[in-house]
Amino acid sequence: MVKLLSNLNTDYIQNYKKFDKIDNVAFSKELKIELSKKNKKIPSKFHYDLKGSIYFEKITKLKEYYVTRTEKKILRQVSKEMKKIFDNNLTFVEFGSGATDKIGILINEQVKFCMPLDISYDFLLKSSIKLAKFFPNLFIIPAYCDYIKKFKLPKKISNKRVGFFLGSSIGNFYNKKEKIFLQNARTTLGKNGCLFVGVDLIKKKTIIEKAYNDSKGISAKFNLNLLDRINKVFETKLKQKDFKYFSHFNEKINSVESFLISKKDQKLIIDNKKFFFKKNEKIQTEVSKKFTLNSFKILANSAGWKVKKYWVDKNKYYSIFLLEN
Ligand SMILES: C[S@@+](CC[C@H](N)C(=O)[O-])C[C@H]1O[C@@H](n2cnc3c(N)ncnc32)[C@H](O)[C@@H]1O
Repeated sequence: MVKLLSNLNTDYIQNYKKFDKIDNVAFSKELKIELSKKNKKIPSKFHYDLKGSIYFEKITKLKEYYVTRTEKKILRQVSKEMKKIFDNNLTFVEFGSGATDKIGILINEQVKFCMPLDISYDFLLKSSIKLAKFFPNLFIIPAYCDYIKKFKLPKKISNKRVGFFLGSSIGNFYNKKEKIFLQNARTTLGKNGCLFVGVDLIKKKTIIEKAYNDSKGISAKFNLNLLDRINKVFETKLKQKDFKYFSHFNEKINSVESFLISKKDQKLIIDNKKFFFKKNEKIQTEVSKKFTLNSFKILANSAGWKVKKYWVDKNKYYSIFLLEN
């Protein structure tokens, strides 16, 4: 890879081709396990190839999607308190960094290093270049990785690590894996580490459901893109027109559940293994849990974090927690 900018270190994404192969092996393995179950599921991390990341960025700009603009508003408030909360020589580590424009709100002269971590390689590189150009005095070290796993940070970064897990991503884990993520993030960030988490709060069902069923149909395209990704990786021929997108807020578990529904009986063959989708069968493509302030505090504590502070917007739609080790 060409050396791009003097403040951008690409050591942790150099081996992308090797990782990409491993990724597709992991994709195939996880997909086969999940599609063999009675209730079929596709983990949400597989949404994010370049096309998926671009669709997600479009979602963040939709009027129905209150998450991004509310979180940014709260971050502007946090930015005024940075000097009171932190000393200098900080390293920002963003798990699932996406466009990285949210942490941009908090970057000031206290921050020396920034590590965007993401599973969407092309988008990660693009966003890191943008960040490096915008903040020429900041040293950017992007890493292509799966954030659920423990990750060893490079030695050269500063000891005071401030992690970020934004965009309501804490709600996107199946099977209570959010606790494992929070435990591993504690290990990754180390004993002086702290972590900002964006937490979407329980609110009126209609407001939540509109955010995942936008009038322009971008959320549908984001989910249907999974079929294109499966076709690309496994050379299969699933057709978007043979599925429809459905998403609702399940109040029993305080979670948005999104699905692709098969419009006909059809089959998918991956590595000689056959999977059948019956007409009207649902394949879950996303979960997005909503919390109360207290239920998130309990979760954070159960993973060994203490709540240092939290901020909530005036509508009580969304909160940002600052956790300390
Ligand atoms: C909901 S988006 C949030 C993006 C951004 N942080 C924001 O707040 O707008 C989730 C981001 O996490 C990345 N991602 C999802 N699962 C991941 C995983 N297991 N490991 C690393 N990155 C992941 C996606 O590629 C995407 O950029």
